[in-house]
Amino acid sequence: MSELHFSRHRRLRGTASIRSMVRETHLHKEDLIYPIFVTEGEQVRQEVPSMPGVFQLSLDLLDEEVNEVVDLGIPAIIVFGVPNDKDDVGTSAYCDHGIVQKAIRQIKEVHSELTVIADTCLCQFTDHGHCGVIEEGKVLNDPTLELLAKTAVSQAKAGADIIAPSNMMDGFVAAIRHGLDEAGYHDIPIMSYAVKYASSYYGPFRDAAHSSPKFGDRKTYQMDPANRLEALREAESDMNEGADFLIVKPALSYLDIIREVKDFSGAPVVAYNVSGEYSMIKAAAQNGWIDEKSVVLETLTSMKRAGADLILTYFAKDVVRWLNEK
Ligand code: PBG
Ligand code: ZN
Repeated sequence: MSELHFSRHRRLRGTASIRSMVRETHLHKEDLIYPIFVTEGEQVRQEVPSMPGVFQLSLDLLDEEVNEVVDLGIPAIIVFGVPNDKDDVGTSAYCDHGIVQKAIRQIKEVHSELTVIADTCLCQFTDHGHCGVIEEGKVLNDPTLELLAKTAVSQAKAGADIIAPSNMMDGFVAAIRHGLDEAGYHDIPIMSYAVKYASSYYGPFRDAAHSSPKFGDRKTYQMDPANRLEALREAESDMNEGADFLIVKPALSYLDIIREVKDFSGAPVVAYNVSGEYSMIKAAAQNGWIDEKSVVLETLTSMKRAGADLILTYFAKDVVRWLNEK
């Protein structure tokens, strides 16, 4: 009888126990960062229509949400502000009593051990909705840098543990590092949105944060989705400027970029599972077309497999509950 010489891969798939022994990628609650939207007013718990389960919260209702995150064992949150006052230079982004600064102060008072990340951009705070200062319809690079540095310092002063600049001006990491160092915040890491594409997947976030540009688009500062090598140039310049973490955003359509940025930089890489990725899964699940839990776990596992160390996701709380079930 002739022997069959072929590989028997199925031997390692026979039982749940063996499958778990040879599993290469694991999702942990420690990998997760949960986004929180804070707004002015009282008793505001406004669900974002395109993001079921995601709320804008006023400060009096914020503790409840943060307590839940801490109780679940999620190590970090990122705070986004939805301010009342907007102007052409985004003053409420760097004011000591801005909504983000107030929220950070309040959170750190109760939960000093929770890592609080501040998103550092101007688009939620400008009346035109762009991420920088405008002149003759153009977004100016260098004048914007000063405002970003000011924003970062005010966030650090409020108690932020990590600064996460998302606005894609050239030199923003250097400008913020310089600003933080000058103000004495030498030890605050920068989690740079180093590789941020001009993506249509941000639509629901712009509903949530009221941050759509009033004219034009963000293509003169965010990256062209067709580009791969440019992502490495972005990662390289941010590393040289002093970035401590690199974010790739969005995540799902850019798994190849996550892998390359990880291999190229060796730095901690964060995948941003963005709003549109969340909404697509939610909508299909609500229609009964897919199983939410298994699709979410598969999706986030793919981001880890691609090389992400951390995942910023609106699903973070659900994921921990699901992981705890197992
Ligand atoms: C603002 C910012 C955006 C997101 C995070 N920070 C939107 C944008 O660039 O328009 C997107 C997040 C998401 O879609 O979940 N600079
Ligand atoms: Zn912005």
